[in-house]
Amino acid sequence: MDKDVIYNDLVTNIHFSDFKNLESIINSKNQFLIIDNNINKLYGNYFKNFDKFIIESKEQNKSIISYQNCINQLINNNVDKNITIFGIGGGIVCDFAGFVASTYKRGTKLILVPTSLLAQVDAAIGGKCALNFNKIKNVIGTFKQAEQILIIPEFLQTLNDDEFVNGLAEVLKIAIIYDYNLFEILENNNINNYRSNSELIKRIISKSINDKMEIVSQDYYDKGIRKILNAGHTIGHAIESKYELPHGKSVALGLKITTELSLKLNYINQNIYERVLGILLQHNLISDLKIDFNKLFKYILNDKKAENNKISEILILDIGKYKIEEFDIQIFKEKLNALC
Ligand SMILES: NC(=O)c1ccc[n+]([C@@H]2O[C@H](COP(=O)([O-])OP(=O)(O)OC[C@H]3O[C@@H](n4cnc5c(N)ncnc54)[C@H](O)[C@@H]3O)[C@@H](O)[C@H]2O)c1
Repeated sequence: MDKDVIYNDLVTNIHFSDFKNLESIINSKNQFLIIDNNINKLYGNYFKNFDKFIIESKEQNKSIISYQNCINQLINNNVDKNITIFGIGGGIVCDFAGFVASTYKRGTKLILVPTSLLAQVDAAIGGKCALNFNKIKNVIGTFKQAEQILIIPEFLQTLNDDEFVNGLAEVLKIAIIYDYNLFEILENNNINNYRSNSELIKRIISKSINDKMEIVSQDYYDKGIRKILNAGHTIGHAIESKYELPHGKSVALGLKITTELSLKLNYINQNIYERVLGILLQHNLISDLKIDFNKLFKYILNDKKAENNKISEILILDIGKYKIEEFDIQIFKEKLNALC
């Protein structure tokens, strides 16, 4: 297999690429770009002569209003269904472009060029796309596989450290619950190494993508095993909403708390707990935020993963091994409070 191919099946091809290759792919009139405003400013030279919809990457803009504006532009430009839509940007653009491509004229071709670490290892991968509505995240969405996903690690040179860390939290998540080998690589490195060693970051990106695709390909429509990708997220999203902490740090705290719960339930021993905590600390992901679980619980209950008075949580049995456990909501609350 070509060394730059990360994942390939009948539907999607995910591969490493570079700016030269990108220029050769974006080359015809039959293409329409949906592009992040920062990427357009930083890398605009590559995208000068093309029809494009520029979107400012804010959650408020992953919206019906932006969608209407984009569809208007497509209609006004007489764009037909044989167009290829390119989504070039972070997770917001990937989600948005996927939604446009899956709905405009009942679906067009889609190519994604994720530019943030989070989008390269997670948001662009697996075919979920969505809009927010009435401040509810991702409540309108479809599944749309991109026929190609181009991973260009050079984009990460302009990504700031905070955004880089948001992506790393998702890499750590998959390592902790699913990939012991990736965990060991991360345990021996830090953000400076990933920033300075292009082979290392490529290895981490390709391992994370393959792990996610291995999971997604067993459960494309998110009815079973795909749930494990939410590890740390039920509590993490609640922390993000209540304490306005960045996504990566919130998910990391979610992972810390679920690992503590795994220890309390005797699924793991103290040594495993310390290794997981250690890797999160080593990547500067753990803050000393004092969490009030009583206040947090309202946000946990709002989470779509809390259904029929039950909540599913992803616990760990070992590094790289998970367990999906369903709790009665009241019992879950008591267990969290007992961690304090
Ligand atoms: N569909 C999925 O499976 C999935 C999975 C995870 C997250 N998501 C979604 O992804 C979104 C978050 O993605 P994100 O963290 O990439 O956020 P984002 O798209 O807002 O990007 C973060 C910031 O980084 C900037 N940026 C991106 N690439 C850059 C680069 N190369 N250089 C400089 N700046 C750059 C953007 O302009 C933005 O300001 C959320 O809306 C989330 O719901 C979707």
